[in-house]
Amino acid sequence: MIRRSAIAVIVVAFLGLLGFVFLSRRPAIAPIERPNPASFTAESIAKGEVLSAVGHCVSCHTRPGGQPFAGGYGVNTPFGIIYGSNITPDPKTGIGLWSLEAFARAMHEGVSQDGSHLFAAFPYNAYTELSDDDVTALYAYLMTRPPVSATVPRNTIPFPLNISSLQEGWKILFFRSGRYRTDPAKSAEWNRGAYLAEALSDCGGCHTPRNALGAEKVRETYAGAVIDNWIAPALTEANPSPVAWTQEELFSYLRTGVGRMHGAAGATMTPVIREGLALSVVPDSDVRAIAIYFSDIDHAGARESDVGAATRGAVETSSLGSGQEYDPDANLYAAACLSCHYNTGTVPLAARPELALSSALTLPEPTNFIQVVLQGVSNTDGALGLVMPAYASSFTDAEVARLAAYLRRTRTTRPPWTDLENKVSAVRRELPASH
Ligand code: HEC
Ligand code: HEC
Ligand code: HEC
Repeated sequence: MIRRSAIAVIVVAFLGLLGFVFLSRRPAIAPIERPNPASFTAESIAKGEVLSAVGHCVSCHTRPGGQPFAGGYGVNTPFGIIYGSNITPDPKTGIGLWSLEAFARAMHEGVSQDGSHLFAAFPYNAYTELSDDDVTALYAYLMTRPPVSATVPRNTIPFPLNISSLQEGWKILFFRSGRYRTDPAKSAEWNRGAYLAEALSDCGGCHTPRNALGAEKVRETYAGAVIDNWIAPALTEANPSPVAWTQEELFSYLRTGVGRMHGAAGATMTPVIREGLALSVVPDSDVRAIAIYFSDIDHAGARESDVGAATRGAVETSSLGSGQEYDPDANLYAAACLSCHYNTGTVPLAARPELALSSALTLPEPTNFIQVVLQGVSNTDGALGLVMPAYASSFTDAEVARLAAYLRRTRTTRPPWTDLENKVSAVRRELPASH
């Protein structure tokens, strides 16, 4: 413990020094008069609306129950909570007096209008790749939203990590400013998908592991990471789902929240879909492009021919538990879960996720499985309107652990999960208050 905090002090001192040496503050950009909404073209506003949806800006810039873009949503980081700013054009509490130049600097460099450095919880490391035209369209869209007067809570980052020069030191180490570069070896659709995924949707923000200072590990892009006590699985070949994430499955999952051969999306993946890619303003072609990009990254093409066999194999395990009276774990499963998760035939029904196909059972850790069982699946997670009950109040840690061990044993060929009961109790301790 002492050693770790000593290291932390050295790191903080080092970052701060870097920041001071390289001039930590940028100049403020002069405020302008609030732009007249009529000065933006309808075309630019409409384009900005699509980009804002793909980038799910609203999800981090709206507190629960609050006005869109008026800020106050708390982004959890290992260092504290950082609240999304009010980005409505309110002159006092929002960005109403920001020039396009100030907005573009924030998006491309992570610097606020007053010259202070923004925390990387605002994904400017992604937005730096946005084209100037797209930043202009986002500006047009935001500047034509209704202004809302709302002050955002102060972040809870403790001293000395909240010193602005530290953000500069961090940037010197981990941030490279620069626009997206087209890969000429790939198709236009692939490049569109890569651009949207990297520069706007920031898929890596959750699916790429971070180092101790909160920066994405560039050599492990999309290798999977833990975010808000859930696992955002690998989006590379290392993804453990029995059926590869093909273009079709990715398209369906990102567009609707559920893929028939993979199951439902939950947790922080839900806003990426519901407040983003599932919105009707986003054209199918953009979601398709993202699916094309990731099905190339995970080399689904090489495994596409196995989809039928993998699906059949999984469905064959579906009835296990229904007749094994002497296995108490099977009985527990049969009593609580089987009726909704049982498939016959060769392909699972859309409303009956086949558990053998879900990454919740094949991931190296049981985290997502435990989360789903304790919290259930709400009607906005996964397929709209479909729910699974929460079992937090009806099952003990030991019972959830038994279900996890039983399903892992009978539905997958992976090694058993260890220390299950403690892991269930750890997830339970961190559940949102409603459970
Ligand atoms: C993952 C969460 C997240 C997403 C998604 C997100 N933001 Fe933010 N944004 C933040 C946070 C947190 C801050 C405040 C950072 C700070 O206080 O240092 C912020 C700050 C900003 C600021 C600076 C405001 C100021 O007063 O300095 C702008 C501008 C902004 N965001 C625009 C956008 C736009 C446009 C999008 C969509 C393309 C977007 N954000 C998406 C989390 C997010
Ligand atoms: C009332 C029906 C019902 C019961 C009972 C039920 N589930 Fe579910 N479960 C669902 C539905 C429906 C979904 C998908 C929800 C969606 O798409 O919105 C789901 C999703 C899941 C998922 C998420 C992964 C995926 O593939 O979508 C897991 C894991 C899971 N259930 C496990 C269980 C376990 C274990 C039990 C018993 C403790 C159980 N379920 C009981 C209906 C049920
Ligand atoms: C805010 C965090 C966050 C962002 C941003 C995000 N994801 Fe996710 N993603 C998650 C989490 C958490 C899960 C696990 C959810 C679950 O199992 O219900 C997940 C699950 C997935 C899965 C299912 C993987 C599996 O094997 O079950 C896919 C595919 C996926 N995300 C793709 C994407 C793509 C593509 C993007 C960018 C367009 C993206 N994600 C952006 C957090 C995020």
